[in-house]
Amino acid sequence: MAAAVVPDEPGQPPKLAQDVLASKAPKVVAADQVVNPFEVSGGVDEAGKALAIDFDKIVRDFGATPMSPEILQRFERVTGKRPHRLMRRGMVSSHRDLDKMLDRYEKGEPFYLYTGRGPSSDSMHVGHAMPFELTRFLQEAFNCPLVIMLTDDEKFMHSEKITIEDAKRFTVENAKDIIAMGFDPQKTFIFSDFEFVGGAFYENICMIAKHITINQIKGTFGFDDSTNIGKFHFPATQSATAYATSFPHIFGPDKTKVRTIPCLIPCAIDQDPYFRQCRDRAEKMKHKKPALLHMIFLPALQGPGSKMSASVSTSAIFLSDKPNEVKNKINRYAFSGGQDTAEKQKELGGRTAVDVPYQYLTFFLEDDDELARIKDDYESGRMMTGEIKKICIQYVQDFVAEFQERRKKVDESVRADFFARKPLLFQGKTAEEVLNELEEKKKQEKAEKKAKADAEKAASKAAAPAKDTPRPTDAAVDGDAKGHKKTMSTVSVGRTKQ
Ligand code: TRP
Repeated sequence: MAAAVVPDEPGQPPKLAQDVLASKAPKVVAADQVVNPFEVSGGVDEAGKALAIDFDKIVRDFGATPMSPEILQRFERVTGKRPHRLMRRGMVSSHRDLDKMLDRYEKGEPFYLYTGRGPSSDSMHVGHAMPFELTRFLQEAFNCPLVIMLTDDEKFMHSEKITIEDAKRFTVENAKDIIAMGFDPQKTFIFSDFEFVGGAFYENICMIAKHITINQIKGTFGFDDSTNIGKFHFPATQSATAYATSFPHIFGPDKTKVRTIPCLIPCAIDQDPYFRQCRDRAEKMKHKKPALLHMIFLPALQGPGSKMSASVSTSAIFLSDKPNEVKNKINRYAFSGGQDTAEKQKELGGRTAVDVPYQYLTFFLEDDDELARIKDDYESGRMMTGEIKKICIQYVQDFVAEFQERRKKVDESVRADFFARKPLLFQGKTAEEVLNELEEKKKQEKAEKKAKADAEKAASKAAAPAKDTPRPTDAAVDGDAKGHKKTMSTVSVGRTKQ
């Protein structure tokens, strides 16, 4: 399934782009790939050649669970929605605990979606848009609240150039672009760290910060003793958004109840280090571990296995590009897996695994049959390089044009609505309503189970003296899917404690 998008051989970008992109790679020959929130590079081989990012290796190294046809089928069964093309075609390459979120969804237990962006410039490109496109779909599929964090503080601390004013301005502009991806204002809260830090959110930031040592951050993010302390502290901020108790206006003020609400984080794979940190500690702080969906990057124009970069304008198609610009960029810069001459193309066919126009089609073209037809025609040599580029241009132009139509409607008042602090609904109900209902239901179930267990006890004259188990009230608020299942299968004993 992933074969369509994970290149099986490294693409070789044209010289120009290779130089620019290589300048972002580690300055050593024969380097391993580096994928963390601050550096993404496929590494360099012994000959100094830039290598493609190996997404499978990332999955292995980070210990995530690869997406499988089974979990996609379960997603479809549970939500009644066909998985998004980004899920069907392997761009969502791995996950952590998606199954648990599906369990919750099945049982009507609340959770929320969390994603974000570091506003580092005012021009977002189509690569940035992909995780938001997935998130938009998930919000619709799960009908649940969504929190979008704009980490202007992170970008300020990580950049030599960006001032606080710049970062705040980018936040406002990026928020409008993000809104134009099509989020539901009734279910979405967008915030800027500079603006929102304080109150319950800041309490969680501090609680998390207190649990993290310098050593752990150094190891995870590759910082050293000359790294500024803001960078060391920031991971606590990004993690705090994964705790529902950071948002009393969305979920209500009852921390004991609200901390039982987990989140699902759709993000590009490079954000995983933040959330590994977060997951390691969540339960110690009596919160739920966040679940994750990892996305691979939309490749740069110069080749698959690379990543679009906003600062290398020939590597990226911007959401603000005009149709002509989209066309020219794809025609001029998109790395082709086609052959040099028409004769050779007819004879040998194009290599879709490294062909950027084909790769883009896997991201932008919805129709699976159409995509299969194009793949077949191109690989068999019936379709020429120019033709596949033309088709690609059309779909990318459409995506950008539709985006720009929606973007026109996002003015300051629309933006303010998304930043407003209001409760957000899960399946049409507030978190408080859902939690109260679930509590009632659990109480009832417990009472029924107890009655049944008592009856069984009375009936059987078993010799073994029954050991007394924890009183059911112990776990009244914290029973997650796992605990729940255990209770069901081990029958008469009290609820398993977490
Ligand atoms: N650190 C991310 C960036 O620089 C922004 C971010 C914050 C984020 N929270 C997130 C991205 C959650 C994805 C999911 O872009």
